Amino acid sequence: LENGLLRTPPMGWLAWERFRCNIDCVEDPKNCISERLFMEMADRLAQDGWRDLGYVYLNIDDCWIGGRDASGRLIPDPKRFPHGIAFLADYAHSLGLKLGIYEDMGKMTCMGYPGTTLDKVELDAETFAEWKVDMLKLDGCFSSSRERAEGYPKMAAALNATGRPIAFSCSWPAYEGGLPPKVNYTEVSRVCNLWRNYKDIQDSWKSVLSILDWFVRHQDVLQPVAGPGHWNDPDMLLIGNFGLSYDESRAQMALWTVLAAPLLMSTDLRTISPQNMDILQNPLMIKINQDPLGIQGRRILKSKSHIEVFKRYLSNQASALVFFSRRTDMPFRFHCSLLELNYPKGRVYEGQNVFTGDIFSGLQTEVNFTVIINPSGVVMWYLYPIKDLGISTMMSHW
Ligand code: GLA
Repeated sequence: LENGLLRTPPMGWLAWERFRCNIDCVEDPKNCISERLFMEMADRLAQDGWRDLGYVYLNIDDCWIGGRDASGRLIPDPKRFPHGIAFLADYAHSLGLKLGIYEDMGKMTCMGYPGTTLDKVELDAETFAEWKVDMLKLDGCFSSSRERAEGYPKMAAALNATGRPIAFSCSWPAYEGGLPPKVNYTEVSRVCNLWRNYKDIQDSWKSVLSILDWFVRHQDVLQPVAGPGHWNDPDMLLIGNFGLSYDESRAQMALWTVLAAPLLMSTDLRTISPQNMDILQNPLMIKINQDPLGIQGRRILKSKSHIEVFKRYLSNQASALVFFSRRTDMPFRFHCSLLELNYPKGRVYEGQNVFTGDIFSGLQTEVNFTVIINPSGVVMWYLYPIKDLGISTMMSHW
């Protein structure tokens, strides 16, 4: 969506995967969906280095709605959000953050709260703008294909008409099966800043792999539609939760980064470990994710030894490589050359290992190298040419 927003993928925190629809503030006041939870996450985002690295969105998901008032306007649950959403938005803004909210283009949200029916689209857009909300995730439960085809463009227009810059996250394609001909990605990228294509992520490695597999299987369709202002969304980061090992956490971070995915964490920032913080706060990783060209990466090699290589083209003739192991035995010594990864002949590269920070230099396209990749782990490189900086033909083949 060309509204000037999200020229790079959004970064921030989204409540759903970790905190779901926990509305029991009597038994679980620290973790229930309430203004306290969002204020505490806002404090962490601002104080623990997140905001300054770019993680600025603080996004509410389902289960915040209390109903509609006599004039039909949405109101938050009065017990859990006693000061209202405008108060939370002000709080976020006072800390240099942005507030995101959630609604559903249909009769009800996925958890059964009042939805935005077609006749409510404009009113709800105005309400969000009045509250000074900065992003809207519009889900698609309890609606027909026809309602969605009308409703998503209608909401984009209504948000635009408010005059407030509000980033627009659509679940539209996910509800149409994610693929053409049912999904018209030209239209989706005109209407939305980001969109969920596929199933919800769950707190397991199996779930990460199923999403990754789907994105890779359909990369010819999905890769070209991403770019500044319009992004595919493979769903939230699980890092810091319960389902992933250390290597799997690094793998999700690296793979999401080469896929130019939104970096929306969904974890308890009050208790996250230093190790997991390091994965999420790696400056070179973030620089790669936020590269201004906004070109989504692709899987370019799948070896018989169950190693896969992903490549993303970056600005200034740089590129990122992720060597990903599907193995389940032991660290694997993978032998390869940049030539096999379609780098142009006769070049010399310098680079940095994104996780260790080690710098290497003098890597010639034709010369073999070895990377040691842990089971369900990754090695990630940032690479740039140091010789023969003539007009690059790098972009001509994947
Ligand atoms: C859908 C979405 C999730 C989350 C839930 C909330 O399943 O895909 O991301 O927003 O609804 O109910």
